[in-house]
Amino acid sequence: MKHYNIAIDGPAGAGKSSLAKALAAQLGAMYVDTGAIYRTVGLYVARQGGDCGKREDVLSKLPDIHITLDHGPDGLQRMYLNGEDVTQAIRENAVSRYASQVSAIPEVRAFLLDIQRGLAAEHNVVMDGRDIGTVVLPEAEVKVFLTASVEQRALRRWKELSAKGESPDLATIQAEITQRDYDDSHRAAAPLRQAQDAVLLDTSALNVEESLAALQAIVKERIGR
Ligand code: DC
Repeated sequence: MKHYNIAIDGPAGAGKSSLAKALAAQLGAMYVDTGAIYRTVGLYVARQGGDCGKREDVLSKLPDIHITLDHGPDGLQRMYLNGEDVTQAIRENAVSRYASQVSAIPEVRAFLLDIQRGLAAEHNVVMDGRDIGTVVLPEAEVKVFLTASVEQRALRRWKELSAKGESPDLATIQAEITQRDYDDSHRAAAPLRQAQDAVLLDTSALNVEESLAALQAIVKERIGR
């Protein structure tokens, strides 16, 4: 198969980014983290003093947002907001909520569609998000719906933040993830849901290596790589 795209969707904290990134490296494909693009929009609106939950606030600022991205030799996706490198800034905890809020607005989703489809048309991509298999790349050669129990996802996030030297509260993280799951799957515009032809991969009982092996097996079965 010459050109292929792999769509990986699922709820927050399911391990999409690390697994998709590792899979892309193994395949020699481009890894695209679409959540980072929504985060960049949320960051801009918040920085301008806008309320990410208010449609008018977000839409009035949309024309001023120019987003580009590139990939370093380490495969890290760097995000640029009007030329400024915001790769780190979009990882702030508050930005998760801003991203979820702006992502519920249909015009924001439409605004970002071209960037995502453009990358997939030009490269073999492993793209992760919420609506890649259902809306962005409905023709993707492989679709995986990656999930894990909310308890496991909260625990993983807690470990990640603890390793960074932060002192997170597990119950708060779990509540935030539960809220984001609800918001992302109940919005009218491209809600988070498993595509009909997606393979479900639940990693609750799997470690990272086992999850990656399971993902690679799905891909191999579909596209022989
Ligand atoms: O994957 P992430 O946690 O960085 O994504 C941040 C938010 O962006 C998420 O809560 C929902 C939204 N998002 C989306 O609506 N569609 C995507 N394809 C990716 C992310």
